[in-house]
Amino acid sequence: MAKGFNVAIDGPAGAGKSTVAKKTAEKLGFLYIDTGAMYRAITFAALAEGIDLHDGKALGKLLEKSELRLESSNEGTAVFWNGADITAAIRTNEVNSNVSLVASHREVREGMTAMQQELAKSKNAVLDGRDIGTHVLPDANVKVFLTASVEERARRRHLEQLEKGLPSDFEQLKKDIAKRDELDSTRAIAPLKQAADAQVVDTTSMGIDEVVETILDLVKEHSRQ
Ligand code: DC
Repeated sequence: MAKGFNVAIDGPAGAGKSTVAKKTAEKLGFLYIDTGAMYRAITFAALAEGIDLHDGKALGKLLEKSELRLESSNEGTAVFWNGADITAAIRTNEVNSNVSLVASHREVREGMTAMQQELAKSKNAVLDGRDIGTHVLPDANVKVFLTASVEERARRRHLEQLEKGLPSDFEQLKKDIAKRDELDSTRAIAPLKQAADAQVVDTTSMGIDEVVETILDLVKEHSRQ
């Protein structure tokens, strides 16, 4: 099968990547691959099994012997670990605060990267993450780096939580987001970094549809090349 057309959307937590990537994929009729959900899934499974999150080898083994499956639908991405639906379980605060540590290990990143490359290989797909344009798909047809101020990203998460009827502390969210940025950008392997050939889109004062339109324009431009 021919190589697919791949759109890589990277950026820090809360920049709107998943919403934008999902909508962009829908508009294009492309597959959406939420790579953050994959790192969240192994974090959840490791916590559930009581595995030491500092032990990269043990985490790599856990990934090797398990089956991780993503199912995209209009409602978003459903995540299955050894057949069990863990879609909701990967969005807890416990997973939020441990996922950066789990994602910092070479054994975990190698396993995930191979899976992501395999998923995207022959498909037209939009992938969102931290290292898609730099490591997973360095030859992606379109690379976007989405950013927004820490304040704005915290505000969005805060509203999301309140809409879900969940408790939320804006100042704490700001701290958590800044902390996750720091961990994701300074890790040794495949850190969060803008690819040299990525188009930066600062979404601080942009609506979702505007961001999606910007990316669709980039896709159009690159399809003509
Ligand atoms: O996008 P997200 O918040 O669901 O991602 C969760 C964590 O996974 C994030 O803190 C960093 C990590 N991650 C990564 O290291 N590489 C990716 N391609 C995607 C996510």
